Amino acid sequence: MPVVEWDDSFLVGVEPFDDHHKHLVDLLNRSYTELVHDAPMESCEELLDELSDYVSYHFVSEELWMMENSYPKYEQHIAEHNNYIKRLQEFQQDYKQGKAETSLEIFTFLRQWLIEHILKTDADYGRFISTLNQKPGLT
Ligand SMILES: [Fe+2]
Ligand SMILES: [Fe+2]
Repeated sequence: MPVVEWDDSFLVGVEPFDDHHKHLVDLLNRSYTELVHDAPMESCEELLDELSDYVSYHFVSEELWMMENSYPKYEQHIAEHNNYIKRLQEFQQDYKQGKAETSLEIFTFLRQWLIEHILKTDADYGRFISTLNQKPGLT
């Protein structure tokens, strides 16, 4: 059973970020499955590296888009992204040092953070752009 079930409440209405988020949820689920089933360390590490690379790629994409669209809460949003990257790096380090229990705790944090970030912080830029697009005279 996946640790995060995708549903339409995750949709922010901005392409390609909805697809990015789906991919992130998939990577989180796969990482969790490997961690709880004690998959070989190498395979877990590879998956965590993939998750980390994809998170960085996704965050940079969102940040560029927010800048291009003059999103007012841009700085606050970036601070959240940076905090997440820091925790993800800590998690990778802990895992590599064999601190398995701590790793699961951090994983739970990472998962929860990501869900809340998509539902609140990312959803906010979705509302922002849809309001902007509805304003008359901007076409
Ligand atoms: Fe996002
Ligand atoms: Fe974000």
